[in-house]
Amino acid sequence: MSSIRPLRVAIVGAGPAGIYAADILSKTDLDVSIDLFERLPAPFGLVRYGVAPDHPRIKQIITALHRVLSRGDVRLLGNVDYGVDLKLDDLRQFYDAVIFSTGAIKDHELPVPGIDLDGSYGAADFVSWYDGHPDVPRTWPLEAKEVAVLGAGNVALDVARILAKHADDLLPTEIPANVYDILKSSPVTDVHVFARRGPAQVKFSPLELRELGHVPDVDIVVYPEDYDFDEGSMAAVESSNQTKQVVKTLTDWTLVDPSTQTASRRLHLHFLHAPAEILGEDGKVVGLRTERTALQGDGTVKGTGEHHDWPVQAVYRAVGYFGSPLPEVPFDELKGVISNREGRVVDLDGDHLPGVYATGWIKRGPVGLIGHTKSDASETIRHLVEDVTGVGDGGDVATGDLTAGRTATQAEPQAVLDFLADRGVDVVEWDDFVLLDEHEKSLGEPHGRERIKVVPRDEMLDIAKRRRA
Ligand SMILES: Cc1cc2nc3c(=O)[nH]c(=O)nc-3n(C[C@H](O)[C@H](O)[C@H](O)COP(=O)(O)OP(=O)(O)OC[C@H]3O[C@@H](n4cnc5c(N)ncnc54)[C@H](O)[C@@H]3O)c2cc1C
Ligand SMILES: NC(=O)c1ccc[n+]([C@@H]2O[C@H](COP(=O)([O-])OP(=O)(O)OC[C@H]3O[C@@H](n4cnc5c(N)ncnc54)[C@H](OP(=O)(O)O)[C@@H]3O)[C@@H](O)[C@H]2O)c1
Repeated sequence: MSSIRPLRVAIVGAGPAGIYAADILSKTDLDVSIDLFERLPAPFGLVRYGVAPDHPRIKQIITALHRVLSRGDVRLLGNVDYGVDLKLDDLRQFYDAVIFSTGAIKDHELPVPGIDLDGSYGAADFVSWYDGHPDVPRTWPLEAKEVAVLGAGNVALDVARILAKHADDLLPTEIPANVYDILKSSPVTDVHVFARRGPAQVKFSPLELRELGHVPDVDIVVYPEDYDFDEGSMAAVESSNQTKQVVKTLTDWTLVDPSTQTASRRLHLHFLHAPAEILGEDGKVVGLRTERTALQGDGTVKGTGEHHDWPVQAVYRAVGYFGSPLPEVPFDELKGVISNREGRVVDLDGDHLPGVYATGWIKRGPVGLIGHTKSDASETIRHLVEDVTGVGDGGDVATGDLTAGRTATQAEPQAVLDFLADRGVDVVEWDDFVLLDEHEKSLGEPHGRERIKVVPRDEMLDIAKRRRA
């Protein structure tokens, strides 16, 4: 029998990437003891605080993630903020390896004039608001009748759909009461989505796009004059079934007779319009100026110099997310990711920081579905196992010595809890979160809803820590 203690591993960030990494690591031949840190009092990352509330099927992924955390072999340490409550040097005392899976929560910048006007918003902030993220303001100024959404990805679709949908159609979902009330009072009539490239270059998923056509009392408007394809577009349609489906749906919408469109709200999809300026008066958005673009033959576009002004009172940019740097961890400012090679975190010289890894969106950037974070986690864990055992490609540390990698000086699981208690951190463990989870479900049950989210952080903590019923 071996007297070697288990390898102590900290995973920072309990979104899907962190939970899949914990699951995969726990199923390797390594004898491991895993702690999963999360800055929020609730795990599941963007599955809880990003996936749209009217996508309950996708939210159900939480059931599988829940199962991993309820097994008991991965310890959740929630309400612990890396960079505030502890840093890498602290973690190294307690753990032999650290995996960062902190995702991305911020909007990518869009450097156009007027971007800082009142009424110009980032999609990420809006998403955090409607999904009840505890660390964002509880109110949202929904005062515009006409709104522009910039970008042609699935986040743009989510934002446009939530803006256009009647609040009562969102009521059966888990949206918090304050979100319903504000959406209910929205005067919106027209939501305009702007893609800077053509119909064959949008990044919408076919299913998510088709769903728009089923939103009650919302008509979809696609303009034939915006509809152009070049050789690159035709090649994209030929080579990708997804693109083919997306283009078919869009083409069907160009054929709709406008006289049959009688809904009280409209969602317009514009192609080949790049944002040029957000127009303002007295510091507030009063319009959007776009520049007409033209396809270049290979699916890229170039500005034509022709401008259009659109009378909108709010602009949401959904042009991608961007990762945030973490103290004591090398960061690639250009890509917004932790500097890494296939999940091994590297320093400025490209050398692996022993025992430090990354996975998920903070490893490869904010693109890809929840399922992609699983293959990501597999790659990172494969390298971690290789580094510890010396088996495989060996990475930078090929020792073959089974005691290798046991660098923590305070490896007993209680030590980190004592450290956090000394710092006054109110740690939310799995059983605490289960109380919050059950409470949210009980709030939803009388109304036939899966759950109603508790939003304020102090209320989440009080419920989890049994300080209120
Ligand atoms: C608006 C939106 C909707 C989406 N909808 C879908 C969808 O319908 N279907 C789909 O397949 N994919 C969807 N995605 C993509 C999916 O959410 C991502 O692929 C996935 O969540 C990325 O996982 P992650 O674990 O890397 O990051 P995240 O899910 O962001 O998880 C990161 C976790 O780390 C925590 N964290 C961050 N910083 C710290 C810190 N300093 N200390 C401790 N913890 C920290 C965060 O609180 C969070 O819990 C959507 C994405 C967005 C933005
Ligand atoms: N329901 C779902 O399955 C779902 C929901 C939400 C998100 N997600 C996933 O989450 C990931 C992130 O989604 P996302 O929508 O944030 O990113 P995304 O898919 O990368 O889309 C970003 C969009 O912004 C456009 N854009 C970027 N810079 C721009 C600029 N300067 N001006 C105008 N437009 C600009 C891009 O156009 P170009 O192509 O021309 O660069 C693209 O259309 C994606 O993988 C997505 O599929 C999935």
